[in-house]
Formats: sequence, C-alpha cells, structure tokens
Amino acid sequence: MKFFVDTAEVAEIRSLAEAGLVDGVTTNPSLVAKSGRDFKEVIAEICAITPGPVSAEVTATDAAGMIAEGKVLRTIAPNVAVKVPLTEAGLVACRTLANEGAMVNVTLCFSPAQALLAAKAGATFISPFVGRLDDISTDGMRLIADIVQIYRNYPNLKTEVLVASVRHPIHLIEAAKMGAHVATLPPNVIRMLLKHPLTDRGLEAFLADWKKTGQSIL
Ligand code: E4P
Repeated sequence: MKFFVDTAEVAEIRSLAEAGLVDGVTTNPSLVAKSGRDFKEVIAEICAITPGPVSAEVTATDAAGMIAEGKVLRTIAPNVAVKVPLTEAGLVACRTLANEGAMVNVTLCFSPAQALLAAKAGATFISPFVGRLDDISTDGMRLIADIVQIYRNYPNLKTEVLVASVRHPIHLIEAAKMGAHVATLPPNVIRMLLKHPLTDRGLEAFLADWKKTGQSIL
C-alpha cells in the first residue's frame, strides 16, 4: 500500500520522507491556505522532495478553465497530478488531461457511482473521503469496500483507490485489509500509527537494564 502525505507543509514532508514514509503528497486549496505559502512555489518545493505523485488542485469550475489550470500545474514538475473535483466539468477535464498524458486525481468522491464515473473518465486516482462521511453518520469505510470491489470486477479500469479524509489509524488498517492502493494521511495520523505504549514501556525497561550492566557499545 502506498502512503501519501496530506499536507502542504514542506518541513513535515521532508521529515517523514527521511523515514521513507512518503510515496506521494496530496494538497488541496484549504491545506495551501493553511500553509500561508504561494501555491505554485510550494508545489514546486514539494515535488522536488517527493519521489511520487504530488496532487495540486484546480480552482476553476468549468471544464475549459480546469484544463487550462491543469496544463499550467503540469509545467511545475513532471510528478504533478492534477486534482479535479467530481463534477461533470471535472470529468470532462479528467478525460482531456488524461488523454494528454497527465496524472489526474478526481477528488471529493462520496459514492461508488461517482467512483465508477471517474474510472471511466480515465482518472489515475479516485479520492473517496471517509472521514467526512463518518462525520455525517455514514460509514466511510463501506464506500472504500464498495469501490475496491467494483474496480476489481473490471480489470480494464486502471484507477487506483486513494483513501482520503483519513482521521485515525483504524481507517488506514481497514483500508489496507480491503486492498485499497493508496491512503493519504495527515502527518499526525502517520505519527499515531507509530506509537504504542508497550513499545515505549519496553524500551524504557531495556535501557534501565542496560544501564545496570555499565557497558557501552561504542
Ligand atoms: C485529500 O486529497 C484531501 O486533501 C483530504 O484528505 C481531505 O481531508 P479532510 O476531510 O480531513 O479535510
């Protein structure tokens, strides 16, 4: 399973990349606003330190505008994936940009039917938002299971399921068990994955016992 980081904070990406935990990055207009940075500049910096796809989202709402913005975003770096919303105009832009060889991430997916349409439009990634569905008392993970099953039934559909709006480790583990290709994780969720109280307690005990030996490795 690939791990993308869901942030526009370059320092966070750099430190997680050092631990080999970054296969790609996703951003959105809200994350860019939160970073306080210039959009194109921050995407260029992220692309330079990320081995895989970096999603940069269009802000036009009509197909021609999305295509024009997508073309500009693609000039920033070869690993830019153009992110378009799951609207009719977004699907038109997806088909056009994909035909031109772009990676396209279709975002704001909340139903299996929408995911099927994105795949037919040639999306590289579909981004179903699990946390936002949970927020309205709808089972976000059910959506992932449905999309994975539908895509598996049609091997000609090459779109990867990119689990988005991940709020905690259980979302990730359930998605991995279902066989989702990618999860995009906020840095705090990646750190939650790492922590276990028994790891901390075990390390503390080992170090205390080692001290008693009076030895040193170096
Ligand atoms: C995905 O690409 C989105 O940036 C993201 O996962 C949205 O998550 P949120 O619901 O926590 O804003």
